[in-house]
Amino acid sequence: MNGRITLLVALALCLCAACAESPASAEAASAAPNTATAPAPAQTPVQASARPPGIAVASAHPLATDAGIEVMQAGGNAFDAAVAVSAALSVVEPTGSGIGGGGFWLLHVAGKSSGAHDEGRDVFVDGREVAPMAATENMYLDANGKAVDIASRDGALAAGIPGEPAALVALAAKYGKLGLARDLAPAIRYAHDGFAVDPKLAHAIAENATRLSPAAAAIFVPAGKPLAAGDQLVQADLAKTLQQLAAKGSAGFYRGAVAQTLVAGVRSAHGIWSEDDLARYSVVEREPLVTYFRDYKLVTSPPPSAGGIALAETLQQLEVLGWTDTHDAAAKHLVIESLRRAYHDRAQYLGDPDFVSIPLTRLASRDYAISLARTIDRKHATPSASLDAAAKSAVEGGQTSHFSVIDADGNRVAATMSINLSFGAGFMVPGTGVMLNDEMDDFAASTTASNAYGLIGSKANAVAPRKRPLSTMTPSFVEGPNGTLVIGTPGGSRIATMVLLGILNFVDGADAQSIVSAPRYHHQYLPDVVQFEPGALSGAEQHDLTAMGDTLKPLSSTYGNLQVVLWKPQNDTLQAAADPRAVGAGRVVLMAAPH
Ligand code: DON
Repeated sequence: MNGRITLLVALALCLCAACAESPASAEAASAAPNTATAPAPAQTPVQASARPPGIAVASAHPLATDAGIEVMQAGGNAFDAAVAVSAALSVVEPTGSGIGGGGFWLLHVAGKSSGAHDEGRDVFVDGREVAPMAATENMYLDANGKAVDIASRDGALAAGIPGEPAALVALAAKYGKLGLARDLAPAIRYAHDGFAVDPKLAHAIAENATRLSPAAAAIFVPAGKPLAAGDQLVQADLAKTLQQLAAKGSAGFYRGAVAQTLVAGVRSAHGIWSEDDLARYSVVEREPLVTYFRDYKLVTSPPPSAGGIALAETLQQLEVLGWTDTHDAAAKHLVIESLRRAYHDRAQYLGDPDFVSIPLTRLASRDYAISLARTIDRKHATPSASLDAAAKSAVEGGQTSHFSVIDADGNRVAATMSINLSFGAGFMVPGTGVMLNDEMDDFAASTTASNAYGLIGSKANAVAPRKRPLSTMTPSFVEGPNGTLVIGTPGGSRIATMVLLGILNFVDGADAQSIVSAPRYHHQYLPDVVQFEPGALSGAEQHDLTAMGDTLKPLSSTYGNLQVVLWKPQNDTLQAAADPRAVGAGRVVLMAAPH
């Protein structure tokens, strides 16, 4: 790192005694600008002239965090770290994300930072899976038009064409400094040499043992016995596939021998991939969605994520309502009502922006937030049914993975990657070590069917060849008087709400550890219930919300896995925190020399 001596100053390793989320309980083109029309606040967001005092990574696994630190200490930047962490997660957290899936990588490419502002730019790298060419709108419906959930969640037919390998190639080539092979080295090492299974992974293996395909079971359930915490997990085939990617770039996955093996494996299990599907996959660079809350600037995920627009709508409604956190039912009621309206719009309007026309400018505008806020009654819950349609039930748990990175030049990455449900489709393509995603379940199988997260959708999110399923993954940056926050989490439909609560806590002055630890509550329009973690609502708040007409759904477990990096230029500090609900790790390495 510019020849400066590095100093390890903080290691926050969060080992979860009771990772309460039960994963198996199921619960380079460019696009149009997405800047919300809300005016920038009078007070321009604070952006430091100074650079961060070091490097920081927070991810869902200590080995993945180490991989990011390793490549940055070898002279790489935050984008090299992003490649290293993504690939490492694919090995050490195979339940959550991987090269058989996709994701979103939000980048801040720092500018010269010589003046008062970092004139850098923000880029959203969309590596979301796409539906295969042979996909059809009704492919997950039975003869009576009823959605067959298992078809979009289990096995090779549930898998979209992976985007993560292409995203890693693009990130390393266009934004990194070290090259793909160096960035992938830690992941290849972990896959080849093995690592000790952590308690969360052991739990997920036990929960999923019976739904794993033979190739997956051979790795995770050898001789019929699920790997336990502390057992060594070696993934020789995955190491070979990663090596092909390292040596040949895209061609090492999307063409040639690996592509042929992937397609043959999928088709022999009743899947519909073709070699052409793989050869035609490309990432899309999109302009991030930008919105403002008080004197904070939020740079977040545009469609095909529904998360950024949910944040823009919710935060602006709260601002219009003059919301402040009074830490009581009255404040939570306004958050819940704003979320209800934002998630209602998600169900109505959102889908892949390359396929459907989304009224994004209007939805993100201040005028629209005013019109929504006017319909909020401060004393009563609005029944979701009065907004539209009938209630659906949600399923708890799941997987996916987020990490946050910042380097000493001020480059940042917030990335959320997924294979959707725990272990994705449960299907590993023989000979590749690649666990396939079941992201096709994020499409609306019909206009009445709900997905694994209880989300409903319209035609805008119907299945179509080469279309990207709508997502809630919401990697985001927030910049303002309290510093710069890099934030995101897994959690299905609840992702946007978790990021929202994180932002509100940040604006309220919380540090990184408090942001990831804070208890959570959620509303998503349908089902018309307020879900909440144990301890998230006091007895008085539960009483008051019920009196206002809310239906409360206490959860028996916690959820989410928030990963946060926080840089405070005003006091030259850097924090990284991993969600204490899981096994992740945040690490900060400060630079010894002045900068
Ligand atoms: O893209 C999405 O919104 C989902 N596939 C994410 C799944 C997820 O976060 C599962 N985690 N609990």
